[in-house]
Amino acid sequence: MTAILLDGAVIARHTFSELEPRVRALGKLGVRPGLAAVCVGDDPASAIYVRNKVRACTEVGLHSEVHTLGANCTENALLEKLERINHNPDIHGVIVQLPLPRQLDAGRVQRAIAVDKDVDGFGWHHLGALVAGHPVYTPCTPLGVMAMLDYAGITIEGRRAVVVGRSVIVGKPMALLLISRGATVTVCNSKTPDLARLTADADILVAATGRAGLITADMVKTGAAVIDVGINRLPDGKITGDVDFAAVNAKAGWLTPVPGGVGRMTVAMLIANTVTAAERQSGMTPA
Ligand code: GUN
Repeated sequence: MTAILLDGAVIARHTFSELEPRVRALGKLGVRPGLAAVCVGDDPASAIYVRNKVRACTEVGLHSEVHTLGANCTENALLEKLERINHNPDIHGVIVQLPLPRQLDAGRVQRAIAVDKDVDGFGWHHLGALVAGHPVYTPCTPLGVMAMLDYAGITIEGRRAVVVGRSVIVGKPMALLLISRGATVTVCNSKTPDLARLTADADILVAATGRAGLITADMVKTGAAVIDVGINRLPDGKITGDVDFAAVNAKAGWLTPVPGGVGRMTVAMLIANTVTAAERQSGMTPA
């Protein structure tokens, strides 16, 4: 048996096709959804991610702009930049690409994004709303994972889900989304004792640790849905996930590739959140 591959490019295209009529409806009101991405420094991976986000904006008909600051920029300079973008009526969504250089406090920077433009959903307002079960803008990667599970028709309610990773960007919101859909969720990390015993029980396994090949076939239940959020660069420059793809492919029921899996969905959900932000800010839907 080999797993059914969850192709992020195909599912992202499906998301885009659902967004197009919404973008057209906004266009009739004279509104073009706009996304601003702020990049600090010259991290090569961040540059690629931002380029992909800009490309997706163009594909769906959104306006986008990239603001780049030097690696040595002060927090005040970044906060002033965000303040200007917050007040720009052509921009409905703002993201600060992570990671940030060490001298900057990422939490403080994210909280400087206007709540109604925080389309990454990393600010406390949106994280709190997610905990309360009333999400507004949900972090894009876990939202993309849910879209992949739904697209494939994978049952979530009543299933055992294990999330390996506890970050604010992926692990914690992922667990909350799965809980809200009725899964029984265990949150682990790469240092969890006897990790394999817990993951082997999972009907849905989400790996988000940033450790190449951490999830081996013996850690996976036969027929499970295995979602690989990892994007790791090997010494030879190749990109690989947290899952031992070849071995797990022979055991899982569904599997996401890296690249071409969850990463595509992160971008698609960012575009979706930006369209939603434009609808709210133009009064098309309640704020
Ligand atoms: N770095 C890695 N993932 C993300 C993301 O979803 N948003 C931003 N802004 N930075 C990231």
